[in-house]
Amino acid sequence: MHNFRVIVLTSGMSRGSNLLAMDNYFKNHNLPIEILNVFYNRKEAPVANRAAEQGIEPIYFSTKDFALYEKNLLNICRQNKIDLIALAGFMLKLSSDFIKKFSKPILNIHPALLPEFGGKGMYGIRVHEAVLAAAKSVSGATVHLVNHQYDEGEIVLQRAVNIADCISPECIAEKVLKVEHEIYGEAVWKTLMKGK
Ligand code: GAR
Repeated sequence: MHNFRVIVLTSGMSRGSNLLAMDNYFKNHNLPIEILNVFYNRKEAPVANRAAEQGIEPIYFSTKDFALYEKNLLNICRQNKIDLIALAGFMLKLSSDFIKKFSKPILNIHPALLPEFGGKGMYGIRVHEAVLAAAKSVSGATVHLVNHQYDEGEIVLQRAVNIADCISPECIAEKVLKVEHEIYGEAVWKTLMKGK
């Protein structure tokens, strides 16, 4: 079987922990999936060095001119026959035009049990603050297909975690992140296999 080729998009001060967990999942399970590049839009983002150390080539592109960003991304995807794009800590919205032109699956990971605690402005620690304010005893992570609405595409994989003992958003974030790391690689594989 040929290698499936994946590009990961991050933004801001991305740590790249999901990128690395995903890559480890593919390697540990001997899956024919290669992460070709990780895109980042902030030069100081830790993800660039962490990816390079793991043998994944980081590519810096500013997102200030977002149309240009999407054009460059699409070119790279076409040149390299990319099968899937995975968003990991990517806080911007891809245009409907890009989604249509790419025409392959685009996945996102969200640090809550969608459809709750999703939508515009719901990202990172804000999600966990909202979960805490709603006094939830369970949260979790969701991998879903990306469409033109924030966090509203079809759910591919979701896993819950007990957060009853958490009294801070950081505590919830830590527990949810562990779950994110468990499910993202599996969700990518599941999506690629579905297309076969
Ligand atoms: C993750 O918790 C991810 O779920 C979240 O950003 C973090 C990135 O961490 N994404 C969103 O909130 C998207 N709405 P990482 O850089 O260590 O992978």
